[in-house]
Amino acid sequence: MPLRVTGPITPLLIGGLAVAGVGLQAHAQRYEIDPLSLAYSEHCSVCHGDHLEGTALGTPLQGVALRYGDSAGEIAASIANGFPGQGMPGWSEVLPAAEIRKLAIYIADLRADISRWDTRRDMPLAIPEGTVASELHDFRIEAFASGSAWKIYSIAPLPDGGFLLTEKRRGVRIVSAGGVVLPAIEGTPKVDVNDDPDGRWPNRPHGLGWLMEVATHPDYERNGWIYLQYGDRCIDCNAVGGAVSMSRLVRGRIEDGRWVDEETLWGVGVERYTWRTDMAAGGRICFDDDGHVFISVGFKGLSTSHGIQDLGEPYGKIHRMHDDGRVPADNPFVDVPGAWPTTWTYGHRAPEGLEFNRRTGQLWSTEMGPRGGDEINLLLPGRNYGWPLTSKGVDYDGTPVEYGKELGITFDLADIEQPVVDLTPAPAVSSFVFYEGDAFPSWRNHMLVGSLRATDLFRVEVDGDRLVERETLIEDLARIRDVEVGVDGLVYLLLEHGTGWDIVRLVPAAGG
Ligand code: HEC
Repeated sequence: MPLRVTGPITPLLIGGLAVAGVGLQAHAQRYEIDPLSLAYSEHCSVCHGDHLEGTALGTPLQGVALRYGDSAGEIAASIANGFPGQGMPGWSEVLPAAEIRKLAIYIADLRADISRWDTRRDMPLAIPEGTVASELHDFRIEAFASGSAWKIYSIAPLPDGGFLLTEKRRGVRIVSAGGVVLPAIEGTPKVDVNDDPDGRWPNRPHGLGWLMEVATHPDYERNGWIYLQYGDRCIDCNAVGGAVSMSRLVRGRIEDGRWVDEETLWGVGVERYTWRTDMAAGGRICFDDDGHVFISVGFKGLSTSHGIQDLGEPYGKIHRMHDDGRVPADNPFVDVPGAWPTTWTYGHRAPEGLEFNRRTGQLWSTEMGPRGGDEINLLLPGRNYGWPLTSKGVDYDGTPVEYGKELGITFDLADIEQPVVDLTPAPAVSSFVFYEGDAFPSWRNHMLVGSLRATDLFRVEVDGDRLVERETLIEDLARIRDVEVGVDGLVYLLLEHGTGWDIVRLVPAAGG
């Protein structure tokens, strides 16, 4: 298949919404100035200008197409090798590779103008009118359902055209095929309604005891099983003290508006519950065609690195079990003493999306990196995805991700699985779906990938373990929490915005 556009996700439009420097302001509150700008000022601004505008000695790096490629990887290569004949020294001898990567992230972030992303979070939703044109299909965006809770997480299509919906702090609802939001289902796992009623833990992040993904069993029409992943919460129940939580997978059925027949399929002892917000939990669920269920569990340990490289801990893993929770005998670490037996892959940071591709039989995930380094990963059993030993992003304070030293872990980079798609600048990638359906035939087998911070929807085509093409389908919509395909073959997006949530759907434009 021919390699088409493989540039970075660089939304170039947006006149009205651009509020320069707002993101940097937020950043500056924490760090005074962008820590990534320091090396630039020291080594590069003399030729490329203080604001990347160019000087007599060097070309502009902003506001123009780059001659040698504008993905973070290509920019890093330009910096490392230089163009000595043209007056640009190579830096690979002078600066370590991590420093060069940092410069590339700095330039790519500025080029994408990511500072404007943070202005959208609190805006009300404005659905674009008219046709949205894209490479393979033109479409309209239609309102489907809406509500007032801000914290939503997941939708799951139902055979009758409706959806199950999770609100992180309220529970499960059904949205009818006509878009009517029905009352909450009674009896689903208890979710947190008030993080810290007594103000006992002022320095702790909020978000313990959230409801996350809802998914229906592949055979749902026959067996009625609905799966939920949530942060199970308790207070003063372990040595950590205070409110703590940890991911748990249950299944149950809905009968007459009530949650019944609940069974716990995956969970850990309370000694492993932590104060780490469920925001980091991943929290996704997916099924393959052989009766297995997979869940993503992010950095829920006591630090952003705790236990993620430790096979004996549940954090930072994709877990695999039979659909009734039994541990499959062919899991990669079942015979390793002390290893968490449900572990399928490890080294994950915040795996916000998890999907099985029924055509290829491959399991895929999306994962949020730190600054830069969002990833789309092909998940191969037993493999290490690198966090927190290495990342294509850098920590927010500008230091490279290399906690191996601190953790006393040595590793060979060749043993770390690299992302199929490196999303730098990092759009805060969220959930995705492999499109199959009749409404958009040319999108079949492509990933439709949501993002939170960038508020864009991407189309990503892969071939085996290779990126073929990436396109931004929608720019500047709202934080996209979940992407699903309805039984009607339309694409449904679960959005969160300044005044609540919406489900919108993509409908083919007439003649599109
Ligand atoms: C002595 C002047 C000079 C310095 C110092 C310098 N550059 Fe350059 N740079 C240039 C020139 C001139 C070009 C254009 C080369 C060409 O077009 O072939 C260039 C090209 C580039 C390009 C490729 C632009 C494109 O269109 O693809 C990048 C990226 C870049 N520089 C980044 C940097 C960074 C980062 C630093 C600091 C580490 C740096 N440069 C330091 C002069 C300089």
